Amino acid sequence: MSKQSASVMTEGRKLKRPRAFSKGRQVEQPAFTEMQALLGDAPLDTDFLIENLHKIQDAYQHISSAHVVALARIMKMSQAEIYEVATFYHHFDVVKEGETPPPPLTVRVCESLTCEMKGAHGLIDLLETGLADGVRVQKVPCVGRCDKAPVAIVGMNPIDHADSSSVAAAVAENNIVPIAPECVDYVAYQAAGGYATYQQCIKR
Ligand code: FES
Repeated sequence: MSKQSASVMTEGRKLKRPRAFSKGRQVEQPAFTEMQALLGDAPLDTDFLIENLHKIQDAYQHISSAHVVALARIMKMSQAEIYEVATFYHHFDVVKEGETPPPPLTVRVCESLTCEMKGAHGLIDLLETGLADGVRVQKVPCVGRCDKAPVAIVGMNPIDHADSSSVAAAVAENNIVPIAPECVDYVAYQAAGGYATYQQCIKR
């Protein structure tokens, strides 16, 4: 064989020359370090991809290409898998090289059927012209709170029966984190007789 080829011949069979680099874009060390610090000892099984993408989105308000590559390396998944999942959900803002990241705060307004019937598009028009610079208004599909339509989500904080005033107030007061409803924990529930009937049933 006069020319060096990309493959080598061994006992008449072609063997692939090992790759000098892993497939896809190369990991950038700063992004890799950031992801290691952000994920800490978080689970890295494939099942936890969405959770880990949420961590990145919440920390940086977007997911850069460099973060996708670093996450792929850390979770031992392909870059394509991470990219496909991240771009499937409207909640994740995947920003490719050369693109401008979104502003720090996003207001998502559901425009699916129930919210639309309850005035979502009028609300979107008001918010697009009425909110301060640096706040993005994004139309999104159903966010699962149809009984409280129309719904807007300021950062991560859902505003039920939203109108321009309630959304503007949440933005102005930086109320971007949801308030967890009061609930009874498992231990207290059991102490108050919770699951007693269930326990009786399985003892029979
Ligand atoms: S249609 Fe808006 S929350 Fe479901």
